[in-house]
Amino acid sequence: MDWNAKQYDHQHDFVFKYGSALLGYLPRSASTVLDIGCGTGELTHQIQQLGHRVTGIDQSAAMIHQATYQFPEVNFQQGDILHMPIAPASYDVIFSNAVFHWIADQQHLTRILELALKPGGRLICEFGAQGNIKAISDAFGAELAAIGKRYRSPFYFPSVPEYTQLLKTRHFIIVKAREYPRPTVLKGGWQGLRNWVRQFFAADLAELPNADEILDNMEARLKPILWGGDHWEADYRRIQVIAQKQSAF
Ligand SMILES: C[S@@+](CC[C@H](N)C(=O)[O-])C[C@H]1O[C@@H](n2cnc3c(N)ncnc32)[C@H](O)[C@@H]1O
Repeated sequence: MDWNAKQYDHQHDFVFKYGSALLGYLPRSASTVLDIGCGTGELTHQIQQLGHRVTGIDQSAAMIHQATYQFPEVNFQQGDILHMPIAPASYDVIFSNAVFHWIADQQHLTRILELALKPGGRLICEFGAQGNIKAISDAFGAELAAIGKRYRSPFYFPSVPEYTQLLKTRHFIIVKAREYPRPTVLKGGWQGLRNWVRQFFAADLAELPNADEILDNMEARLKPILWGGDHWEADYRRIQVIAQKQSAF
C-alpha cells in the first residue's frame, strides 16, 4: 500500500511523537544507525541531530519523497527492507518505530536484523502488540461480515514472549521488553476515526464500493467504546523491545 505522506504528517504525527521516547535507548557515542520504515523522516532526522550516521529506509515512494524534501541533509533510500541489498554487519544500531507490524514475514525480517547488525549491535524497536486496535478491527470485521466479506488482518501483533523468543532464535539477548496499553487520541474531532481508518486500512477500503457507509457504521458501533465526547481514542497496545546481537555464538 502507499501512504498519504502529507496527511500522515498533519493528522498522524502522534506516531513519531510517541516514537521519540525510543531515542533515549540510542548509544551516547556516534553510531551507524539504520532506521527501518522511516516514513517522513522526523525520527531519522532527530537521530542524525544526536550525532549518529543514519540511513532511513522506507518502501513508500510518497514517504521518501516527503522525507527527502523536509530533510535533504539526511540519507534516505526507497525500498522494501526484505528486498534491499544490505551489507552484513554494517550497523551498530537498528531503529524502527511503528513498522514491524506491517511486515508479515517476520522470519525473513529477523534474519535481516541479525545479518545487518554488527556483533554486539543494538535493536531498538516499537510496534503494535497483541490486542492492538482490537475494537477498531472488530468493528471493521463486523461491517465486512455484514456484506458477506471476511476481514483478514494484514498486521502482525505479537506478545512479548512470542517476539522475544523469535529474537532469541536469531542470537539476540533481550535487554528490555514490555507490552503496554497506549490509548491514543485521534486528531480531527468526529472525523478523526474515519481519517485514521482511511490511512491505516487504506488497502482494504480501496476494494469496497461502499466505503463511506462502512465508515458511518463503524462510527456508530465504536461510539460507546472509543468516543470521548469531543475526540476518538484509538485502543492502541504497543510492544517495545531493546535487544543486543550476541558478540559470539
Ligand atoms: C506508521 S509509519 C511509521 C513511520 C515512522 N517510523 C514514524 O515513526 O513516523 C510505517 C512505515 O513503515 C513503512 N514500511 C512498512 N513495511 C515496510 C517494509 N517492508 N520495508 C520498508 N518500509 C516499510 C511504511 O511505508 C510506512 O512509511
